[in-house]
Amino acid sequence: MHILHVVGARPNFMKAAPVLRALAAQSGVRQTLVHTGQHYDRAMSDVFFQELEMPEPDCNLEVGSGSHAQQTAAVLSAFEPVVLERKPDLVLVYGDVNSTVAAALVCSKLGVRVGHVEAGLRSRDRTMPEEINRLLTDQLSDLLFTPSADGDENLLREGVDSSRIHLVGNVMIDTLVRLLPRSEQHRRDDLAAPYILVTLHRPSNVDDLPWLRELLATLADLSRQLTVVFPVHPRTRQRLADMTPHSGSHVRLQLLDPLPYLAFLALQRHAAVVITDSGGIQEETTFLGVPCLTVRENTERPVTIAMGTNQLVGRDIKLLRTAANDVLNRRSETSASESLMPCQVPLWDGRAAERIAKILLRAGPA
Ligand code: UD1
Repeated sequence: MHILHVVGARPNFMKAAPVLRALAAQSGVRQTLVHTGQHYDRAMSDVFFQELEMPEPDCNLEVGSGSHAQQTAAVLSAFEPVVLERKPDLVLVYGDVNSTVAAALVCSKLGVRVGHVEAGLRSRDRTMPEEINRLLTDQLSDLLFTPSADGDENLLREGVDSSRIHLVGNVMIDTLVRLLPRSEQHRRDDLAAPYILVTLHRPSNVDDLPWLRELLATLADLSRQLTVVFPVHPRTRQRLADMTPHSGSHVRLQLLDPLPYLAFLALQRHAAVVITDSGGIQEETTFLGVPCLTVRENTERPVTIAMGTNQLVGRDIKLLRTAANDVLNRRSETSASESLMPCQVPLWDGRAAERIAKILLRAGPA
């Protein structure tokens, strides 16, 4: 059976890695890995392949950056000949980035079966580009691998036949479970806990400059109490270029380049609180039991709220400040790493990719 995987952007890599690994352990499976090149910087791509021990991509479409239409169209036209030439039995797409929906569309038009890993998530916010990508990819896919039961419910509500839906758990957590012990070697000696960890890259936060300025001022204020570590996504870096975010001798706001997987995981594990707009980080902090404040009005990952680790602070700067201070005041003396409990979310157990591999083998070649 020939399975072709499509990855393109940073959050795809930690999802595809365990599936590639689980399928490599099976006999009779041939795999092809296609990188669309949506993310191309070393810090956004290559370093993840190394740390996650992923094979080199068999081909790179080198689509690069552009508007949504340009980027999606570039994947559509570059990926079609690859599918025609390589003739996979099935194509796996991951998450909700532009590369995901473009690859799914190519395959469905060519009559090649598509499996969507991380299916069924819904923020119900169609201003979010990822929500459009999720809705379309799920409609186009033959096999829908969901990370949590809410995904199944969303798909059923949209009329997806239950025979296409497979609740397998969270592949991103597979990678975390495998690499958490190794990440300890990547702790920064120069950074004493407690500290606050921040990531912001969504257009809704970073393309709105007055709001971004307010966020930055809040982070600078928080850094008077605790060091704030902020690895900055390239999109955010461009927006920050003209801002002078902080001044004063008591400010400990560290703006860093994007970090590799292991260093970032170590930072998350030992953070007092994480402030983010990422989807994956809401999940990783839930697994790690680290408090997370999400700078968004909604989330497609409601299970992280139900577990009590994640709180939505929306676009309310006062709420962000109060929530951050509440978490810091509540913080117990025990660090998250010492009190790491087995994760309570069903199937977030490090074995989701094995379940996907089994289902794929059962589905068989075309
Ligand atoms: C994309 C995904 C988002 C995901 C995020 C993780 C979509 C719609 N969005 O957003 O869901 O959470 O990746 O990072 O697919 N850039 C670089 N170097 C790179 C990549 C990008 O400098 O390696 C810059 C470019 O100027 C580009 C901008 O970052 O225009 C944004 O990149 P893009 O791929 O359009 O979307 P992300 O914001 O990264």
